[in-house]
Formats: sequence, C-alpha cells, structure tokens
Amino acid sequence: MQKLRYGIIGIGKQGSKYCYILTKGLVKNGELVAVCDIAEDRKKWAEEKLCNQGIKFFDDYKELIDSGICDAVLVETPHYDHAVIATYAISKGVHTLIDKPAGVYTKAIRELNEYAASKPEVCFGIMYNQRTNPLYKYAKELVDSNRLGELKRINWIITDWYRPQAYYDQGGWRGTWGGEGGGVLINQCPHQLDLFQWLGGMPKSIRGYAQEGKNRNIAVENDVTAYMEYDNGATGIFITSTHDFPGTNRLEIDGDKGKIVIEGNKLEFTELEVGEKEFNATNKKFMPKIPSKKIVKKMSRLREGYMYLFEQHTGIIRNFTNHVLNGDKLIAPGCEGIRGLTISNAIHLSSWLGKAVELPIDEEAYIAELNKRIEKEKENNK
Ligand SMILES: NC(=O)c1ccc[n+]([C@@H]2O[C@H](COP(=O)([O-])OP(=O)(O)OC[C@H]3O[C@@H](n4cnc5c(N)ncnc54)[C@H](O)[C@@H]3O)[C@@H](O)[C@H]2O)c1
Repeated sequence: MQKLRYGIIGIGKQGSKYCYILTKGLVKNGELVAVCDIAEDRKKWAEEKLCNQGIKFFDDYKELIDSGICDAVLVETPHYDHAVIATYAISKGVHTLIDKPAGVYTKAIRELNEYAASKPEVCFGIMYNQRTNPLYKYAKELVDSNRLGELKRINWIITDWYRPQAYYDQGGWRGTWGGEGGGVLINQCPHQLDLFQWLGGMPKSIRGYAQEGKNRNIAVENDVTAYMEYDNGATGIFITSTHDFPGTNRLEIDGDKGKIVIEGNKLEFTELEVGEKEFNATNKKFMPKIPSKKIVKKMSRLREGYMYLFEQHTGIIRNFTNHVLNGDKLIAPGCEGIRGLTISNAIHLSSWLGKAVELPIDEEAYIAELNKRIEKEKENNK
C-alpha cells in the first residue's frame, strides 16, 4: 500500500477541517477518497467541494466502510457515536482514528478497547493533537526521563474556554446530556484531561465539584473543581470553566527534582541540583533555597503557526498514516482515550454522588446517573 485511502465520517466543523488537510496534500501518504454525513447541507457541501475531485459521498457510514474503497476512517460525529462507528469499522478491518473525546462513558470505551485489542492487525488511534505541542512534548520528556523526579503535585487551571450564552443557544447536540453527555469536561477539556494523565499518571481517587448551568441557561456543567490523590501520595487539582473572562491556562507540575510551569506559550523548568528529599535529609538551615537552574522554552508566533499547519491535527493524521504504512509508533493510541474519559466521568460521578470516588469508577452507577439527567432534560424540553 503506497497511500492510505481515507474516509471521513461526519463532515461538520471538524471533519471538514480534515477534508482540507487531506485534499491539500498536507499528509504525504494519505488521500481522501470518501466522506459521509447524514445532514442534507453537508451532502450539498460535499457535492460542491469534494465530489468534483473524485471523492465519493455516502449518507450511511456502514456503506462507506463496506464499500471497500477506504483503508482507514476518521470518525468525526458527535461523541456518543464514536464507539459505535469505530467498532463497526474495526470489525471490517478498516483502520480507525477517532476524535476526542473517545466517547461519553467509560463502559462503551472499555468495550471498544477490548474489541480493538482482539483485532491487533487493525490500527486504532485517537486525535489527541495537543500531544504534538512542543511544550507538552518537552514536559513529557522531563517526566519520562525522571528529570522532574517523582510527582508531588499537578495543578491545572484551564478557564479560558469562554463560551457565552449564544454558543449554547445555537442548539444541536452541544451542551446537552442527551446530545453530548456533559459540558466543559466532555467538550472543551478532553485534551487537557488527557495531558493531565499523560504527564501526571492516573489518580487513584477523585473528589469533583461540577456546577451545572453556572451563569448560563444550560443543564450541563460549566464550572468544575476537582481534587485528586495518587498512589504515591501526590495530589492534583483540575479547575475549568466556560464563563470566566479573561480565563487562565496554567499547568504546574511539581516533582521531587524540580517544577514545570506552562503558561502562555512558555514552559519554565526549574531543575534542582539535588532532589528535595535528598537535600532535606542532610540540610541544617531553617529556610534554605535548594540550588537550581531554570530552563525556559518559548514558542514564537512563527513556531506556533508551523505547529498548527504541520503538527497538531495534521501531525496526528500523518503519524497515524505512517503507523499504518510503516509501523511508526503511535503518538496517541486509541486505547488511551479511556484515561482522560475516566477522569472526566469520575469528576461527574463524584459531584453527583457528593463524595470522593475511587478509580476505576463504577461504570453502571455512572450510566444510571447520566440517564437520570437525560430523562430530566427530555422532560424539560417537552
Ligand atoms: N480534536 C479537536 O481538536 C476537535 C475539535 C473540535 C471537535 N472535535 C470533535 O469532533 C467531533 C465532531 O465535532 P464537530 O464540531 O465537527 O461537530 P459538528 O456538529 O460540526 O459535526 C458533526 C457532523 O457529524 C454528522 N453526523 C452525525 N451523526 C452522523 C452519523 N451517524 N453518520 C455520519 N455523520 C453523522 C453531523 O451531521 C455533522 O455534520 C466531536 O466529537 C468533537 O468533540 C475535536
């Protein structure tokens, strides 16, 4: 196989972006051969913009997958359908790259992962494009090489997802329990929740406070504070909202050997000459400073522009293509989508039950609580 022939299922805002990436040749070994959508206006758009380039349109994803003209699919529908479509594609031997979040609740994604694991010949990836951001990549290197040392604390304030009422009033599936299964945790934050665990690992317990409809006329959560505990005694805080302006995006990770701060296109790493535990064991001063050096990485506008053109989403599709064709290591294996989703579900569940929850969460309890909200939403919309 010289070129990977892609089909895109769901050509709304995000799917049409990937149509652009693939038709403009940004992925050298990938080509777009088919698209699928159930909406009439998207069919019209595809007919005008894509079909004249020989790209086929389908209004049923099963027909696209069964057509045999696609080696791989990108799944770009609302989240509830990701697992359903991915399972079908994998069952037909079609390599599958799903978008974030992997899904809405962990049970569906655990089952998808188990199924995908039973078909190792079919490649399975997830669009965690933020893993290609050079600053997060550098942080990952510092963590994995143990230069940061053992995790002590990880805190992320990510409140710059400002969404006014007009955003929620546009209707459709967004910002509803039935349409997307949540608010800021499931729509805006999956990338940060993934990076939170990518850099800090999975917590063992979570106490979440998710306020629903804060300063907005919506049923889902848009203001969240979560406290997490890890096996080694480390702690984490995750704060997010969609109604703060201006918001903050600041990630701090404290390890025994230093501290990483990422904020505003800049990473600062304070590297201690000796780990704090080792220093403390022999130190006799009352208020000492541990000798350290500071490493600063800044992302210029030019570098940022390059990232958005050639890394990020393009980078993940390139990597997935080269994974299928040449066996390159996946930046974001599909089976890892469950981790951020587990944190998201745990925050919700903890908030709904009013107590801390242990991981892995009780999947059935989560679904029961989610269904209550979907039913209530239906009642309110009657
Ligand atoms: N990775 C990222 O940075 C990123 C950014 C934005 C959105 N997303 C994700 O992409 C997905 C789509 O988001 P969007 O903003 O493009 O939404 P959208 O509503 O603009 O597009 C979704 C499209 O899917 C179509 N669709 C729905 N059910 C379908 C089905 N069964 N078969 C075929 N088509 C179907 C809809 O008609 C619509 O055109 C979401 O899961 C979202 O979280 C990812």
